[in-house]
Amino acid sequence: METPITVVILAAGLGTRMKSRRAKVLHRAGGRFLVEHVLRTARTLAPPERIFLVVGYQADQVRAAIGTPGAGFIEQTEQKGTGHAVMAAAEALAGLPGLLVILYGDCPLVRPETLAGLVAAQRTSSAAGAILTAVMDDPTGYGRVLRDAAGRVTGVVEQKAAAPEQLAVREANMGLYCYQAAPFWRHIRDLRPDNPAREYYLTDMVEILHRAGHPITAFRIADPREVLGINDRVELAAVDRLLRDRKVRELMLAGVTIEKPETVTIDPDVAIGMDTVVEPFAQLLGATTIGENCRIGACSIVRDSELADEVEVGPFTIIGTSRLESGAQAGPFARLRMENHVAAGAHVGNFVELKKTRLGAGSKAMHLAYLGDADLGPGVNVGAGAITCNYDGSRKHMTRIGAGAFIGSNSTLVAPVEVGEGAYLAAGSVVTDNVPADALAVGRSRQVNKPDWARKRRELGKGRHG
Ligand code: UD1
Ligand code: CA
Repeated sequence: METPITVVILAAGLGTRMKSRRAKVLHRAGGRFLVEHVLRTARTLAPPERIFLVVGYQADQVRAAIGTPGAGFIEQTEQKGTGHAVMAAAEALAGLPGLLVILYGDCPLVRPETLAGLVAAQRTSSAAGAILTAVMDDPTGYGRVLRDAAGRVTGVVEQKAAAPEQLAVREANMGLYCYQAAPFWRHIRDLRPDNPAREYYLTDMVEILHRAGHPITAFRIADPREVLGINDRVELAAVDRLLRDRKVRELMLAGVTIEKPETVTIDPDVAIGMDTVVEPFAQLLGATTIGENCRIGACSIVRDSELADEVEVGPFTIIGTSRLESGAQAGPFARLRMENHVAAGAHVGNFVELKKTRLGAGSKAMHLAYLGDADLGPGVNVGAGAITCNYDGSRKHMTRIGAGAFIGSNSTLVAPVEVGEGAYLAAGSVVTDNVPADALAVGRSRQVNKPDWARKRRELGKGRHG
């Protein structure tokens, strides 16, 4: 049997360089909290009961942000460095045999394959531990990997504590470690805060173990972009971009056309079918699924919604928690606020707002309408400027419109109200009573024409001024 793995994720720090009131690991990149990314990757290595998060700053919020299946929590009440954070876990974890993998909560890019590579590097060597390193063009801020003349890793020196010749080293410690648990826990008590910051540096464990006769190996990866840490908001934006790029690439390789891919924002759980086109600056968020052969217009935002095949979303359209069936169209400039159901082939046109509304198959509301708490059957035509008055000041009420009804322009439907199948509402009607099927409802005063009124007025005006 393979040796069991325990994973510890350090997430207790404030993240001073973020200049934020929120814990660093609760900032988001690529559509998830930073710590969530790390946790997901950790789960590919160990079962939840073997994953521990060291929390401290805003511990409750960090705990709350962790979804199921969760992880164990260890409190680091004072933040005295990464080594100190692991020391806080010693009591709970030192008894667990096998391997100890330590990750930082501010390093969300790491892929399962990379982590597996680190563990394999430890397992296949006779070393007591493996640290993940990369050669960086500019390793400023990172710990530097020290090696002896024979190339053996002898230690890691932090930026702040490094001598000039050490600062010239371009091989950086990326902050992912796999140690044999037994020697690691035996020697952790040797950590000392003997550096300018007076912190317990986890990185000192490399030298401590090396000196105690437990060699440490380096697992060097080619591309440091895969394990960049986040310390400030510039790096947060850069990592967000990298995570978004990964998602967009994955979708493009699966047959989705994405125009100007660097401009779109697509959350990790979004699924999109083949031959769908996503136009520039679209945002597809949360648990959104989109079928095949759809078009998502430029600058549209779709959140937690389900779009079937052949759906067309025009530019500048905002859709939340709604379902659009095949061939439905929305926008440009439409807002499907929440819990709408647009059936097959229905159209929602420009400046139309829908809230908790069902639009039956083939129904159309093409211009300037508000439909809230409404149930429209199939084949209904809603004219420009029609609105449902769904709110009476204290409660919401339903409007029901039967199949094939025609809602004249600028109709005002005062809910609760029902319009029967095939009925007509005259333009400009204020409808307060139910309309029977196939009837015409005229809810407005009749037009009066006053012959010659305008001409007379003009002539009168001339007399006065001329
Ligand atoms: C650390 C490494 C550095 C490495 C870099 C890679 C140390 C001393 N240095 O530096 O060699 O190149 O990561 O990104 O480890 N944390 C706690 N408790 C604390 C302090 C920090 O839980 O008391 C957590 C933080 O929440 C964070 C992680 O540890 O998620 C790393 O801490 P950070 O201060 O960002 O370390 P770096 O300075 O980036
Ligand atoms: Ca960091």
